[in-house]
Amino acid sequence: MGIKQVADYAGVSIATVSRVLNKSANVSEVKRKKVLDAVKTLGYRPNDLARGLRNMPTSTIGVIIPDITNPFFPSVIRGAGDILHEADITPMIYNSDGNIDIEIEQIKTLISKRVDGLLFMHSEESKRVIDLIESANMPVVFLDRVEDGRFASVKSDNYGGMKIIMDYAYSLGHRDYWYIGGESKVSSARERLQAVFDFERDHSDISIKYASTTFSYEGGLWAFELLKKKFSIPTIIICGNDLIAFGAIDACLKNKLRVPYDISVTGFDDGFLAAHYNPPLTTVAQSPYDLGATGAKLLLEFISGKRKRAVTRVLPIRLIIRQSTTQL
Ligand code: RIB
Repeated sequence: MGIKQVADYAGVSIATVSRVLNKSANVSEVKRKKVLDAVKTLGYRPNDLARGLRNMPTSTIGVIIPDITNPFFPSVIRGAGDILHEADITPMIYNSDGNIDIEIEQIKTLISKRVDGLLFMHSEESKRVIDLIESANMPVVFLDRVEDGRFASVKSDNYGGMKIIMDYAYSLGHRDYWYIGGESKVSSARERLQAVFDFERDHSDISIKYASTTFSYEGGLWAFELLKKKFSIPTIIICGNDLIAFGAIDACLKNKLRVPYDISVTGFDDGFLAAHYNPPLTTVAQSPYDLGATGAKLLLEFISGKRKRAVTRVLPIRLIIRQSTTQL
């Protein structure tokens, strides 16, 4: 005996039977009476086990990152993983490869697996994704890239970090800049770019030329050649992340420019390679491990019901001075 037999007997839809059994308000009295009579006549007992299972936690959470080849993101997972392991929760990790359609399919899969929550580093802001997440009524914490104030998020002080490195470059005597930033479809790239815009507004004695690319080594190579075609070579290249900086450094070398003697280069992240590149990279250190750990702790508070309201945590950054920059 199932809910479909009750619906057929009462001459109503399965959804109506479900609403009556869940004591929902929006059912007419006539239909409610038909359903209750059918339940009584057929001796139907709702499958409490199935209902119970549907609402039981699974002790799993989803983690979606946009680019598993970028060492920043596995470090985020490492931080989250340590917290989740302590809580006996299994992370289900997906790489969207920066593809929004893949991201949506992965979220649908996680919803079907009834994960208890989602740690989300999106590849771009998307109403389609937000609608899907809201329809699932699932706890979500955005990491590194913020969607909007409705959702809890953890990020680094992107604006402050880029301001510090611009101030440092200026203190070295640089007045002629290129800025090669990440694509503005993510908030971390936009916040860093805004710091450069504001710096340019506040310093009338400098020149800055801009390019936007992917947060990647290839992006740095490509953007250097693009700017070289249009503008004279500057004294410093400020990059939106370390991978772009590594590409820019190698583009300089291909163009017979010695770093830092002919041109300085800076990055943002301070991943493992930054200290070991040739030359070691001046950059802004953020802590992806802490970002992941803080996000996981927040998500567990939402899942347990201890926290209800969205909050944004901003983690500090540090300027790391190495040999890829020099005094003019
Ligand atoms: O390196 C990847 C970049 O994308 C990092 O700077 C991180 O902040 C993310 O936004």
